[in-house]
Amino acid sequence: MYCVKEIGNSIFWVGASDRRLQLFENAFPIERGINYNSYLIKDEQNVLIDTVDKSVSDRFFENLEYVLDGERLDFLIINHVEPDHSGSIKELIYRYPYLTIVTTAKAKDYLSQFLDIDLSERFIEVKDGYTFSSGKKLYNFISAPMVHWPEVTVVYESTTKTLFSADAFGSFGAMSGNLYADEVDFDRDWLDDARRYYTNIVGKFGSSVTQLLNKASKLEIAMLCPLHGLVWRDKIGYFVDKYKLWASYTPESNGVSIFYGSVYGNTENACNILANYLAEKGIKDIRIFDVSKTDKSVLISECFMVKNLVFAGVTYNGGVFTNLENLILDLKAHNLQNRKIAIIENGTWAATAGKRIEEIFTQMKGCEIVEPKITIKSAVKNEDLAELKTLANNLG
Ligand code: FEO
Repeated sequence: MYCVKEIGNSIFWVGASDRRLQLFENAFPIERGINYNSYLIKDEQNVLIDTVDKSVSDRFFENLEYVLDGERLDFLIINHVEPDHSGSIKELIYRYPYLTIVTTAKAKDYLSQFLDIDLSERFIEVKDGYTFSSGKKLYNFISAPMVHWPEVTVVYESTTKTLFSADAFGSFGAMSGNLYADEVDFDRDWLDDARRYYTNIVGKFGSSVTQLLNKASKLEIAMLCPLHGLVWRDKIGYFVDKYKLWASYTPESNGVSIFYGSVYGNTENACNILANYLAEKGIKDIRIFDVSKTDKSVLISECFMVKNLVFAGVTYNGGVFTNLENLILDLKAHNLQNRKIAIIENGTWAATAGKRIEEIFTQMKGCEIVEPKITIKSAVKNEDLAELKTLANNLG
């Protein structure tokens, strides 16, 4: 049975939610599920904007058929070819044989690679600035390469002032009835997942996102329709401002987050002592994470949020405890910048973890190592306390 929403001005949400998938992209836990948003715009010629992952295609096709109500589907605009949005296109082409695909040359190439079908007979190529009308509605294409893949466009329907923003402004989390961000307690229930989605999926491409934000700032936007998560029609500037921070690697908090890899609890103990000193200094925003317990996507998101980051790790196989090193390498891969970094290493006979941690962060733009770098020999001693206190004073 169909499950659709009319979101105004002949625009219909015909997407679907998936709460069965454990790992988005086979990498990121999604306890709250995920939305695959697809939008049908009815006009003299009917236009679909993107499709959905194959896993929810049954519901999507029921939605589409219901809203079309026997009318022809004329155009498919593809903003992004990643299979979570293009996974139903092959079936769509079989069901709607007159369908014309409107997208970039790169998207056409990628789609042909995935689907192994020749699209040249049913393809309109768009570039940045291309406009296209379906009758009353007018679509303006804005290229957005590397938000998240090179082929990405977003499209602005100017009569309704609606921006279909592809992966930008998306979130993890399935729809629970309310599709609009102003219908939910976004800060309480969605912000963390929106940040975790942005930082892990698109976080590496901050400069590309900033370019898109600059282009979008010239538009009057009444509604923001991403491919995941919620639709925005109110206080859009609030979410855009979050994106400006995330895309420019600007922390939201001046607090301190501590990430430790500890085998027998002694490195963890050093972190707890440091946190105590930070609290005595009056810092309220302090969090401690065991990197072996907390999913890496949460830790990446945390590092994008907070200014002062402490990495504490035991020496392991002559290097850094693996889970901690994986986190740090992933932060580098995500292009994290402009952070204050503190380092605590532990070793019983040859502590080398700190050297490796510092080596990685010194390759990352704007990351400043905060002194003192601390070496614990097996367990914290009285003589280590002064250094931990000094480090606390130099953070935050
Ligand atoms: Fe939701 Fe980059 O795909």
